[in-house]
Amino acid sequence: MIAVVVVAMTTAAPALAETVVVTARRMLDVETGRLLDDPLVVITDGRIAAVVTRNGGRPKIPADAKRIDLGEATILPGLIDMHVHLTSNPKYGGYSGLQFTDSFWVAQGAGNAGRTLRAGFTTVRNVGSDNYADVGLKQAVEEGWIEGPHIVPVAYALGATGGHCDETFLPPSYDRKSPAMGDSPEELRKRVREQRKYGAEAIKVCATGGVFSRNTAPGVQQLREEELRAVAEEAHFWKLKTAAHAHGADGIKAAIRAGIDTIEHVSFIDAEGIALAKQRGAWLGFDVYNTDYTLSEGAKNGVLPENIAKERAVGTLQRENFRAAAKAGAGMIYSTDAGIYPHGDNARQFAVMVRFGLSPIDAIRSATTNAARALGRTGDVGAIRVGAYGDIVAVAGDPLADVTLLERPVAVIKGGERVR
Ligand code: ARG
Repeated sequence: MIAVVVVAMTTAAPALAETVVVTARRMLDVETGRLLDDPLVVITDGRIAAVVTRNGGRPKIPADAKRIDLGEATILPGLIDMHVHLTSNPKYGGYSGLQFTDSFWVAQGAGNAGRTLRAGFTTVRNVGSDNYADVGLKQAVEEGWIEGPHIVPVAYALGATGGHCDETFLPPSYDRKSPAMGDSPEELRKRVREQRKYGAEAIKVCATGGVFSRNTAPGVQQLREEELRAVAEEAHFWKLKTAAHAHGADGIKAAIRAGIDTIEHVSFIDAEGIALAKQRGAWLGFDVYNTDYTLSEGAKNGVLPENIAKERAVGTLQRENFRAAAKAGAGMIYSTDAGIYPHGDNARQFAVMVRFGLSPIDAIRSATTNAARALGRTGDVGAIRVGAYGDIVAVAGDPLADVTLLERPVAVIKGGERVR
């Protein structure tokens, strides 16, 4: 029987000098891949103050500390999804989303933030939304008005006019275009500064066509290497990390050579691209789960036949190329493109990664240690270690023996507060 002390759910940040003590049967040390017995984690004011395991001695605990005893469960760091769209909703494919007013997307995005958090994802990077909605969601979470993970917003994704990240669904008389398009290195530098000005904490750029846009081909490069380099340089100048949407082999290699930190989708990467990624230390984020959802539910949700056809052409190859990259030991991050499939199902990708050749511990590292490094946030997230946020997910068994346990967390703690 799991004894649980329920910590009151408050929307406010924990009061000053509030101490929470979390105990469980085992802890997965994601760095070493070892399971340690009888962990005890002390969280003070939302940050981890001490971590000990069996025979590790017992730290001083204030008498009024709250207790969260997770009984027989195994704890690991709160998970990180490097590629989500909290304001997107897979239920409204194709043109069906036009039935709603603009603010609808933010309003339902607040629910998606809560679903994501309760699924064990305590940190997400939101790689594109309209109207700076991800910046607003982050602020609402931090102010305690809505439940959600730590959000790293990119605001609008940059790209070429008419490219994947532009508005591609409407005819010219609607005069609709994304405000983050740029068609020269100088224009793109300015777009970086504009996004940062309004709250972007990382910069995303679309290097190739994509699946869910019209009149773009996933395999075809859409920005020149010098344009991608301008984005990477300008973002890095402002101390921001960069992500590139890139399906095609040429766009992938151009983005890596340009110095982009994480390459997303990576569908058609070739052997040269894998070698280049390893050599340059670029992280690869293959979204290998969502194809299952799109191919079974997409048509019902209104996704246009041309987009479903593109998904068919991309999905299988992407998984085979993921297998090759995993075998080659490329650096992997956990990027799922939640919003293409329902928010809250983020953990379903672990099983696909393992099925296509990544070990369970490396799949878990992609969503913890590797993701934290790719964010430049190792001090905050991705590990149960002193100084990091008190972000913990608990599962009912050994996740190295069965990664699908991560789809059913028995507890989720963010900043020392139990949210599930
Ligand atoms: N946002 C991406 C795009 O539209 C999603 C690709 C999904 N498909 C896939 N097999 N990963 O290009």
